[in-house]
Amino acid sequence: MSGLTTSSLGRKVAMSLSGFFLITFLLVHLGINLTLFIGADTFNAASHFMATNPLIQVMQYVLAAGFVFHIFMGIWLELKNRASRPIKYAKNNAAANSGWASRNMIYTGILILLFIILHLKDFFVKIKFGEVHDDYELVTELFKNPIYVLIYVIAFILLGIHLSHGFQSAFTSVGARAPKYLKYVKNIGMAFSYFIALGFSIIAIYFYFA
Ligand code: HEM
Repeated sequence: MSGLTTSSLGRKVAMSLSGFFLITFLLVHLGINLTLFIGADTFNAASHFMATNPLIQVMQYVLAAGFVFHIFMGIWLELKNRASRPIKYAKNNAAANSGWASRNMIYTGILILLFIILHLKDFFVKIKFGEVHDDYELVTELFKNPIYVLIYVIAFILLGIHLSHGFQSAFTSVGARAPKYLKYVKNIGMAFSYFIALGFSIIAIYFYFA
């Protein structure tokens, strides 16, 4: 473990492994949220399953650990990169460099973290510790508030930007650097980023107007 977190390459690999894990979480989370369009019963059943299934309960702790790890490693990586910039940074990231998104990962990351704190307060904490009987109603009621929808959509756009670099960076850090793969990795990364940002945004906007 120490090699994984103390060497520069090890830190990048650790970042990418936790990133892959969070990418999987986002796909599952969006999949469940899209059942909001089917109707209250389906979404409530999916939400109930997620809240009661023993395996998912264990995975929630792994998820929390994955988030904390990703955040701390991200901050550490940023500080290390700052200390060794500009030459080393440019050299280390030649393959993965994608302009604005890659240079601002720390800022988009911090803003996404603020969103997650707000989001957990409004959904997770209320469902887990409050008196919520209908998850569908909780979600759809919150999206009647335009300020809320705006904050959420901004957060989803930032998440898309973060992923537009993070996705391809996760692959290049674990070795997918050959030019013939890089093109595909970049394209799939962009498609995935749009899918996540638009998928979550459409939910918030739809239920504002619904
Ligand atoms: C339209 C967008 C979204 C909706 C409607 C939504 C809804 C919810 C709901 C209802 C829960 C509570 C689930 C439960 O405890 O039973 C939840 C939990 C959570 N959400 Fe979201 N979410 C959205 C987007 C996001 C995004 C973009 C992220 C990450 C960047 C995220 C991260 C989390 C986390 C970490 C949890 C706690 C773990 C869990 O319960 O699965 N959510 N969300």
